[in-house]
Amino acid sequence: MKKYIDYLVPINNVCNQACNFCSAEYRMIWNKPIPLKSIFKQILEKDNYIQISGWEPLLNRDLFKILYFIRKNKKNCFIEFQTNGVLLLENNNLKKLEKFNIWLYNINYPCHIEKINDEIVWIKCTLKKREEAIKEIIKRWLNLRINIIVNTINYVYLWEIVEYINKNFKQLERIQFSFTKAMWAANKNDEVVPKYKDTKKYFIEALNKCKTYNIKADVDHIPMCYLWDFYKQHVDYKKKLLWEKWIYLEEKKYVEKCKNCDMRKYCSWYRKDYLEIYPEKIYE
Ligand SMILES: C[S@@+](CC[C@H](N)C(=O)[O-])C[C@H]1O[C@@H](n2cnc3c(N)ncnc32)[C@H](O)[C@@H]1O
Ligand code: SF4
Repeated sequence: MKKYIDYLVPINNVCNQACNFCSAEYRMIWNKPIPLKSIFKQILEKDNYIQISGWEPLLNRDLFKILYFIRKNKKNCFIEFQTNGVLLLENNNLKKLEKFNIWLYNINYPCHIEKINDEIVWIKCTLKKREEAIKEIIKRWLNLRINIIVNTINYVYLWEIVEYINKNFKQLERIQFSFTKAMWAANKNDEVVPKYKDTKKYFIEALNKCKTYNIKADVDHIPMCYLWDFYKQHVDYKKKLLWEKWIYLEEKKYVEKCKNCDMRKYCSWYRKDYLEIYPEKIYE
């Protein structure tokens, strides 16, 4: 039984990308659409925060029916819309979404270099469309978070990505750096999940750049000790201060190294799926 609050409502199992790190479990039942009834049921079970996700939610033909259902049944609930952004400007999708008062657009952004973007998402020509969508969201003053999933291919570019974002998406307020969870496509996959220690200096450089440019930055799924002075920007640090019991502790493990760590009070340790790839003895 889950001991934490789950906000996620996956609304389909098809996608127009095939990200090498994808954690969307519906990958396994790709040929069976999720029945609308079951989506409605999930929505009614949620509190006042709902993450509409997928695979790619913009590929669900009933998307606006689903949003209408949310607004009808949960008027004041906060909606986070998770998308790779590629289809946001097609068929007036963004304009239509605006009507449902989306609280946060979370855009999956692998890298600003086209070759690296394509290597990660496997489908060509997605970067330009994603970036046009980001610019349009900013132009309309909507609440946006760019989500960078830190993996073996893009981690060396982290600070360059921040430089690029600062230059090209001027009014962007918030970035999230999510270390790849070793689930589904990334399950036991050391070609996709890097070692924490190899990414550390790039995380710190990127977070330093965010500070310089006044961009709010959150970090998730990496132990706090790898973030040096930036540990307060860890999502779990904030959650632990606010709502301790909601932390995803089931997925985490306290390792030998944590015993002498000053941050153990706030940190929620190593992910178990990471330790399956890089067992405790070789975590450093
Ligand atoms: C599974 S995606 C589905 C929604 C949409 N297709 C997208 O890419 O945003 C939902 C969110 O999970 C993130 N995500 C996917 N795989 C991940 C992984 N292995 N570790 C951490 N986050 C991941 C994506 O970047 C995205 O922000
Ligand atoms: S992360 Fe999102 S865009 Fe990438 S394959 Fe998974 S569902 Fe599709």
